[in-house]
Amino acid sequence: MATNFNLYGVLCAVLFPLFLIQRTDAAAVISIDFGSEWMKVGIVSPGVPMEIVLNKESKRKTPAVVAFRDGVRTFGEDAVTVGVRFPKNSYKYLLDLLGKPYDHPMVQAYRQRYPYYELVESERGTPEFVHDDKTRFTPEELIAQLLAKAKEFAEVSHGQQISECVITVPGYFNQAERRSMKEAAALAGLNVLQLINDYTGIAINYGIFRRKEINETAWYALFFDMGAASTKAALVEYKTVKIKDKGYVETVPQLQVIGVGFDRTLGGHEMTLRLREHLIKAWEANGGGDVRASPRSMEKLLREAERVKVVLSANSEHYAQIESLLDDKDFKQLVSHFKLFICVT
Ligand SMILES: Nc1ncnc2c1ncn2[C@@H]1O[C@H](COP(=O)(O)OP(=O)(O)OP(=O)(O)O)[C@@H](O)[C@H]1O
Ligand SMILES: [Mg+2]
Repeated sequence: MATNFNLYGVLCAVLFPLFLIQRTDAAAVISIDFGSEWMKVGIVSPGVPMEIVLNKESKRKTPAVVAFRDGVRTFGEDAVTVGVRFPKNSYKYLLDLLGKPYDHPMVQAYRQRYPYYELVESERGTPEFVHDDKTRFTPEELIAQLLAKAKEFAEVSHGQQISECVITVPGYFNQAERRSMKEAAALAGLNVLQLINDYTGIAINYGIFRRKEINETAWYALFFDMGAASTKAALVEYKTVKIKDKGYVETVPQLQVIGVGFDRTLGGHEMTLRLREHLIKAWEANGGGDVRASPRSMEKLLREAERVKVVLSANSEHYAQIESLLDDKDFKQLVSHFKLFICVT
């Protein structure tokens, strides 16, 4: 496995600087980090360092969520807000479904986590959301709408149309998953110059700003990325190599991904889900009623668990608090670091 990743890492390391050089006379390119929970968008313009694109709330990260309600389509934070009141109308964690057959364990786990969606098997044997009597959405179609939004953010920021992009994908994505991401991009009107493994993208970004430290003596860096859905680590070697180009021998910096490790089930979202379970048990223990039967209450709890988790990363204890969680009854529960630790281990 390491050999494939090495090859890909070297390819990217070689192709990426070439891509930058060859494009100096060309238009800008959008870079999209499409995560399971957040999308982050950048613009690479000729001769200008990469800029991070801000969304309409002036934030660098936009929830990778799209919602449909009363004939209105919303994205990002607005779609998350729709999802709290109308969970079925707001589509999220779509990367978990991309390019997977319907019977894939991740698709089945998705159905259990979000039982309010009507997720059926399409003719292609892949998952498909039944939105209403007339409308069905594939994960590719929903991701395409989010990629089109990313394109729009970039165009507003740049003041010009941009149709070429580089998209990161998790390094463990297989060919079907990569193909599906390309399909989504094509539906969004984007031409994908390259899909890049996320750890290669991180390693290139790290190396670009340390050019002076890269010489013939190899040195190594270990990158660790815990996202919402997964955890990845990559060991990367940096050194200069001699290459012959147009008759000249040149010394160029090169990175090589030596090895990678990942867990596709360990991420921040799993911690939030476990903290929610802890809150549900506290609610049930106090005779609060069947909160699990109410998708709206479950969404409120999920949102609160996420908020409390983030607060607890800088504080030793914090109250989870929800007004009218169920049948006009409020919920309040003190959560400590220790309790959070018990939840996630
Ligand atoms: N201050 C914080 N404390 C604890 N967790 C945090 C904090 N800030 C962000 N997170 C968690 O980090 C995760 C989001 O990280 P990131 O934006 O890297 O995810 P992603 O790229 O969408 O996911 P993935 O790469 O797994 O597809 C969420 O689970 C979020 O709760
Ligand atoms: Mg990520």
